[in-house]
Amino acid sequence: MNIICEDFNYIQYFLKEKAGIAIEEDKRYLVESRLSPILKNEGFSNYKDLILKLKLERFGDFHQKVIEAMTTNETSFFRDSHPFESFKNIIIPELIEKKKLERGLNIWSAACSTGQEAYSLAMIINELSHNFYQWDIKIYASDISKEVIEKAEKGLYNQIEINRGMPISMLSKYFRNENDHWKIKDEIKKMVNFMQVNLVCQWPDMPKQDVIFLRHVLIYFDLHTRREIFDKIKKILNPDGYLILGVGETTNNIHDSFESVHIDKTICYRIKQ
Ligand SMILES: C[S@@+](CC[C@H](N)C(=O)[O-])C[C@H]1O[C@@H](n2cnc3c(N)ncnc32)[C@H](O)[C@@H]1O
Repeated sequence: MNIICEDFNYIQYFLKEKAGIAIEEDKRYLVESRLSPILKNEGFSNYKDLILKLKLERFGDFHQKVIEAMTTNETSFFRDSHPFESFKNIIIPELIEKKKLERGLNIWSAACSTGQEAYSLAMIINELSHNFYQWDIKIYASDISKEVIEKAEKGLYNQIEINRGMPISMLSKYFRNENDHWKIKDEIKKMVNFMQVNLVCQWPDMPKQDVIFLRHVLIYFDLHTRREIFDKIKKILNPDGYLILGVGETTNNIHDSFESVHIDKTICYRIKQ
């Protein structure tokens, strides 16, 4: 079944307005394939009726379902490896030294999908030989999608998800086997605070962050939306803090408050002083 031009345009408008997601003109097939399960499950006979419901009803579960169907949740443990190496070997040791008096660290995995990024960071912190006695280390992890946050909170992964990036030594140390799945141990789980946050809406009250992982999400936003998000990052990132973006994502030519720095093999972004 095909979506007509007018309805496709409405979906483009709706996703841009509510989630910042920019759908290009040639992605009509993508909208059709992602929305077709909703069409079937909700008993609509065509896309027109689905769009009508979006237009007529107040924003609620149905609208959220459409947004979630259109997001891409691809992720893995220690994705791209280098940012995690830099975090472990350089960024965290440097921040520990700088913050040794206040003894607090805040780390945010924004757009965390099903939690692998946040748990990777928590495992790294746990692996460090530093004695964190009396330190307050908080890892926040958020996503627009309620479904992925619920999965992340369970911390339960299948073998395919584990095979994608989880070193065997960490698997045996931090997971236990549960009916063909792997469950993250409580000591790591309790280090991460999951929440639902839409990056293009108002952000919840959060303390200033020392490290923000904002990876593989900006690619879905247009330039204006990316600039607005960098404005908010500038306010919430500590002057000593680091912003880490995904492959191909940058603040360059979008926001001039940030400068890029090479930390080992990773390009990170800092607020210009
Ligand atoms: C491709 S995943 C990236 C996951 C992880 N950061 C990584 O690099 O592996 C992109 C995530 O961004 C989320 N997302 C999309 N639009 C968002 C928005 N407006 N606010 C918050 N999260 C959003 C999606 O739900 C999805 O889980």
